[in-house]
Amino acid sequence: MPEFIPVITKSEIQDRVAALGERISADYKGKDLVLIGVLKGAFIFLSDLIRHITVPIKIDFIRAASYGDDTETSGCIKLSKDVEIDLRDKHVLLVEDIIDTGLTLANLVDYLKSLGLKSIKTCALVDKRERRQAAVSVDYACHIVEEGFLVGYGLDYAEDYRHLPEIYHLKL
Ligand code: IMP
Ligand code: MG
Repeated sequence: MPEFIPVITKSEIQDRVAALGERISADYKGKDLVLIGVLKGAFIFLSDLIRHITVPIKIDFIRAASYGDDTETSGCIKLSKDVEIDLRDKHVLLVEDIIDTGLTLANLVDYLKSLGLKSIKTCALVDKRERRQAAVSVDYACHIVEEGFLVGYGLDYAEDYRHLPEIYHLKL
């Protein structure tokens, strides 16, 4: 039987998401901001985060599939859904669920930079440090953890457990 060890509670998530929304609102005051959620994992985080953002924003999504049903990244990403908003001269904040090796994020940032943006920053629900391979910066991180495979609040294992309202360390 898989074991679920609680890592981040509902109220911790709520508090930090609210604080992050306030920081982003202050940093992007007066700027044309587009938040791009990375599907599917970021959809819950993004939908909670934007309700704490008080400056005008636009929302788009991108989808990179790299994991399959495994717990390790394959290193190369495939874009299975592209952005739809014209991002030229826009400030972009890329919103991810979790940064592990950083390879997905690095690839997405490189791709988005090629679209003529004014700026790009990154935001993640979880910045997981242990296995980092790409030199990427996570500008806004809700939580920092060192290790472990996490599920819940959008994070999946083989498409399961996304709906859990808290974040757990999954031990198989
Ligand atoms: P990276 O390219 O290794 O940074 O992997 C990033 C992607 O892998 C994330 O967007 C997640 O979809 C997935 N991932 C990495 N670690 C975890 C985890 O602990 N739980 C669930 N998904 C994860
Ligand atoms: Mg995933």
